[in-house]
Amino acid sequence: FNFLIEKDRRFILDTLVNGLSRLEYRGYDSAGLAVDGDNEKEILIIKQVGKVAELKKLVNEQKSDFSKPFISHCGMAHTRWATHGQPSSLNSHPHRSDANNEFTIVHNGIITNYKEIKTLLEKKGFSFETETDTECVAKLTKYIYESQKDSNISFTALVKAVAKELEGSYAFIFKSVHYPNEVIATRRGSPLLIGVKTALKLKVDFVDVEFGNPTAETEAASAKESNSFFSPVGASHPPLQRSQSRAFLSEDGLPQPIEFFLASDASAIIEHTKRVMYLEDDDIAHITEGELHVHRLRREDGDSSTRSIQTLEMELAEIMKGSFDHFMQKEIYEQPESVVNTMRGRVNFENHKVTLGGLRGYLPIIRRARRIVFIACGTSYHSCMATRAIFEELTEIPGQTELASDFLDRRTPIFRDDVCVFVSQSGETADTILAMRYCLERGAVCVGVTNTVGSSISRETHCGVHINAGPEIGVASTKAYTSQYIALVMMALQLSEDRNSVTERRQEIIDGLYRLPGHIKEVLDEDTNLQILAKDTLSKERSLLIMGRGYQNATCLEGALKIKEISYMHSEGILAGELKHGPLALVDENIPVILVMTKDSLYPKVQSALQQVTARKGQPIIICNSNDDSLIKDYKTIRVPQTVDCLQGLINIVPLQILSYHLAILQDRNVDFPRNLAKSVTVE
Ligand code: G6P
Repeated sequence: FNFLIEKDRRFILDTLVNGLSRLEYRGYDSAGLAVDGDNEKEILIIKQVGKVAELKKLVNEQKSDFSKPFISHCGMAHTRWATHGQPSSLNSHPHRSDANNEFTIVHNGIITNYKEIKTLLEKKGFSFETETDTECVAKLTKYIYESQKDSNISFTALVKAVAKELEGSYAFIFKSVHYPNEVIATRRGSPLLIGVKTALKLKVDFVDVEFGNPTAETEAASAKESNSFFSPVGASHPPLQRSQSRAFLSEDGLPQPIEFFLASDASAIIEHTKRVMYLEDDDIAHITEGELHVHRLRREDGDSSTRSIQTLEMELAEIMKGSFDHFMQKEIYEQPESVVNTMRGRVNFENHKVTLGGLRGYLPIIRRARRIVFIACGTSYHSCMATRAIFEELTEIPGQTELASDFLDRRTPIFRDDVCVFVSQSGETADTILAMRYCLERGAVCVGVTNTVGSSISRETHCGVHINAGPEIGVASTKAYTSQYIALVMMALQLSEDRNSVTERRQEIIDGLYRLPGHIKEVLDEDTNLQILAKDTLSKERSLLIMGRGYQNATCLEGALKIKEISYMHSEGILAGELKHGPLALVDENIPVILVMTKDSLYPKVQSALQQVTARKGQPIIICNSNDDSLIKDYKTIRVPQTVDCLQGLINIVPLQILSYHLAILQDRNVDFPRNLAKSVTVE
């Protein structure tokens, strides 16, 4: 925020805390904020683990005098969803460069080369108080500042120098005692927008030569609010309101504040302004004294030299869902990005190597395991089923998949040389936690695969992998499934890296992972066709059978689960090999059947299932590869891109997720919160 009118600090703190509350829906484990202290050389940081309400309590307990008025002020706040380091008050943001809080930053994203930066800074004598990637950036800023101090480096130039050293994805806000009343924001890969609140009309005025050099007149003439620099109309030399303080006067002579709100998500600021400008990758926004300048990290040909201010038409609840009607739909559509987030910094596509930091130290033990037991519930269990075969093939360790409740009911024998993998989106599912404790008591090595850093499963297991899919809100799990699937495949890839006999197979899979986001996008493009199919063919039906075999058995079970969870239509996933042992009795011309028939070594066997179905007058809808023309003439098809057999399930599940979504909408169901179900089942 940057205010050009007298406000007291209490107002600023309240605005920051309210902004954080608006982001609570995304999930987080800790929160923090930074505001100016009692003088310009002091920055006050307040952080707390847990809910925003806890932070608010802590703010209220502070001894500082928050009623002190400010003319211009920058404050920052953040909710953290841990990726590096446990959720704790220390690890939460803002992070600082040193005990004097010379540089404070908040960060959304992951810095993948933070270890290199940390090693370098440690050699230069820096010591670290947290395990986070973000702290490295705060310290790097101080390091560069000190090495360039004599040149009176501007805040913008300093942040540019820092950003040039960073790899990964980020949105950052920087604040410093060396640059009071200034704030810098920059992004690459993570969203960042700037809300502008003022009663004044803004004129366009390009002053930043680095940003192309259109003349002020040209841009102003277009009267569009698209610019790199704001100043109020007719106030190119703003009058001074009081000595040394610049404020802008409106036509009636009253002082007008300009407030800038930086946020990763419009929901945090919508109550203040609907006029927002979205920053682009490598934009560096500098705000000071009511002015905003946007610079580019590097000037490249073809860079757009305008940023337009949009007026958001949406209300808060809609903004949280972006342009989607439901969280589930948003999460389905997020998959091209969430799968990348799962692999980020872990899969090296050039040298075909996978490194999962969370398994460090345990790899030799896992490789020696006598068997690997995968234990989970619901969708998470299906991700285990989907990957068991590739796990066994690559590692040659026998695998076993277990539903947590049944595993406990049977008091399944577990031994010290077993490795038990607990897969859970929430990390808090009671059945899975109890199974984990059961295995820990028996001395097995326990590995957690969760989406929630700091959850019971990620805390209590010996080692593990965070799937980094981002918060999932829809009760029916979608993006967590694809990310769990990838996490387990990555684990198998890393465990088998020293097995020469599987080198080519590993390379083929890693190349397939590289193409995955594009493949998922292709399926998402089929949405309208799937909607028509749901409406015309399936919405009036009472029951649906989904059949497949091999790798696609899990796809059928998961697809059927999605359909029953949110549309309440009876749906059953059937292993095609079992068809003749019972389920075939259900097949006639009336029951809808979906057959998953993408190309792999079992294709001929699925062809025989197709014949069994058609011989009973069934008219299956077939999920097949786009390059398979043999079926289009005779059947309704859902066509998906072909990939490596063991990854095909990641693509095949997407049309079933979309289909289940449309079926639920057509039945007017509560998609995100289906009856009788909970996102996280914390009771046995
Ligand atoms: C509940 C949810 C499912 C989820 C299952 C396991 O049943 O409704 O969507 O798959 O729990 O949850 P977990 O958090 O352990 O993955």
